[in-house]
Amino acid sequence: MCGIVAYIGDKEAKPILIKGLHRLEYRGYDSAGIALINGGLKIYKTKGKVSDLEAKIEGLKLDSTIGVAHTRWATHGEPNSINAHPHHSNSQKLAVIHNGIIENYDVLKKALIERGYQFYSETDTEVLVNLIEDIQKNEQVVLDEAVRIALNQVTGAYAIAVLSEENPNKLIVARKGSPMVIGIGDGEFYVASDATPIVEYTKSVVYLAEEDMAILERGKEIKLKTIKNKEKTPYIEALEMDLTALEKDGYDHFMLKEIFEQPRSIRDSMRGRLNADKGIVSLGGIADYEQKLVNAKRIIIIACGTSWHAGLVGEYLLEDLARIPVEVEYASEFRYRNPIITENDVVIAISQSGETADTLAAIALAKEKGATILGICNVVGSSIARSTDAGSYTHAGPEIGVASTKAFTAQVTLLTLMALRLAQIKGTIPASRWMQLLHELESIPSKIEKTLQSADVIKEIAWQFKDVSNFLYLGRGYNFPVALEGALKLKEISYIHAEGYPAAEMKHGPIALIDNNMPVVFIAPNVGIYDKVVSNIQEVKARNGKVIAIVTEGDEVVRSMVDFVIEIPVTEELFTPLLATIPLQKLAYHMAVMRGCNVDQPRNLAKSVTVE
Ligand code: M6R
Repeated sequence: MCGIVAYIGDKEAKPILIKGLHRLEYRGYDSAGIALINGGLKIYKTKGKVSDLEAKIEGLKLDSTIGVAHTRWATHGEPNSINAHPHHSNSQKLAVIHNGIIENYDVLKKALIERGYQFYSETDTEVLVNLIEDIQKNEQVVLDEAVRIALNQVTGAYAIAVLSEENPNKLIVARKGSPMVIGIGDGEFYVASDATPIVEYTKSVVYLAEEDMAILERGKEIKLKTIKNKEKTPYIEALEMDLTALEKDGYDHFMLKEIFEQPRSIRDSMRGRLNADKGIVSLGGIADYEQKLVNAKRIIIIACGTSWHAGLVGEYLLEDLARIPVEVEYASEFRYRNPIITENDVVIAISQSGETADTLAAIALAKEKGATILGICNVVGSSIARSTDAGSYTHAGPEIGVASTKAFTAQVTLLTLMALRLAQIKGTIPASRWMQLLHELESIPSKIEKTLQSADVIKEIAWQFKDVSNFLYLGRGYNFPVALEGALKLKEISYIHAEGYPAAEMKHGPIALIDNNMPVVFIAPNVGIYDKVVSNIQEVKARNGKVIAIVTEGDEVVRSMVDFVIEIPVTEELFTPLLATIPLQKLAYHMAVMRGCNVDQPRNLAKSVTVE
């Protein structure tokens, strides 16, 4: 939930750390801080964004070749400069940055207070840094050993970097439950919550595994061990990340860039997996588990937020095409409701970041009960990708905007491929129809290109409704999850209250909200039970609601009934979510921009939710 970055080597640390924080700012942005060794341990921190921290330290001469920095999403204590990281120990000789939550911090804090320690912030991290100092003093051990002993006393999740005034050539890092990657340079090390701050300096990385710690000494080899003191050989991997993917590339916001990247990201997600001319659908990552899927008593999809919406589309696809029963669960509910899981169940965990705490915990539970776990993740090497039995990566590329866009359509693309492959094995749809679907799926990226062109009408709609307080999104069948996703996009970046519903459910309650101020977005392509959706539109118009409809191009029936239409190209019903989602993303984007909201970093949110 927070972003951590650290450096040790022979370069000046400050610019590397600040640039790294900018790259990680999507993970949290309520306060930021930096610690360097510059004639002693120096810490600077502030409430607000990384740019506020930059302004605070501008002009200060901070020559240092070692340092740690942090951008925060508050868990313990309000976002202010006292609670911001890094936190120092009482002697002011140690500094720690931390991502995660120390669950037993209260007990540890009480014990430390009894031993005379004072606390200035409300954070769990300040407890950890003082615990390390206390162990160092009392046990007379070196820094890395003190860190190791301390980590054996804490419960909860952490990715930490420890800086010590007395050890200016050493950086200690460790992780449990929160991600951490180490870039290996020439006698130098870059540490970060993900690879984005590292990629421009080195392509050789080590992903820390659960309960791993690394001792990074200037000019020496990386030393890796577990917190149980078992030495490990570091597994150095080559980073496959394109630096340009991390820039806005001329767009005003990452979100807009990512919306426009969707034809590419979907093509990339299908590349090597779909060949319509040859009649091939294959997902190499899960090939060994196809029979398990075919024979599964049921598939349980677990995810959160937008990924959960993709899972709902997956339910329609897998049941419709492959005739396998599917349940879609919020990971946060699943993990605590004592679910019935058997060895014949296959669980599919979906996550863009691959770090979502609830999804990770739900995977652990399902594993414990013997289910097979497959993953659909975007971030290569992420915790979820590593904790599943097998899986397939979406190839959406780094998604920086907090609101998920291209990751969603890439997830839906993978679920579509999976459903088509299982339908082929099970023979649940005629071969000619199956081939027809393959060709249509291949044409989706170019249809998205066409959909992306409808800018003017969407801006006009956004202008018309930018000051309203509520929005309703309605859809049926495959487009019910699209309604949910459209509503989520709007509320998270524009702060307008929005609800998504199956259109027919409207008359069981939400219809009471309809008056001439209420905008209602209908996802109404001319497929499936289109006539029923048209009836639902009539019900809203009869009560003077303002209707914006996503329709199939050329639809004059709905056009004649509603206030605004946005057209999408003709496609098969099961592919309409991939097209209908696009204008809803753009609508949310333009509304948020017109309302002056911070589109890429909406308030209170963070890109990867590593706390439950
Ligand atoms: O990284 P994940 O896909 O596991 O994240 C799940 C949700 O936190 C995420 O989709 C969230 O809802 C987004 N802000 C939606 O735009």
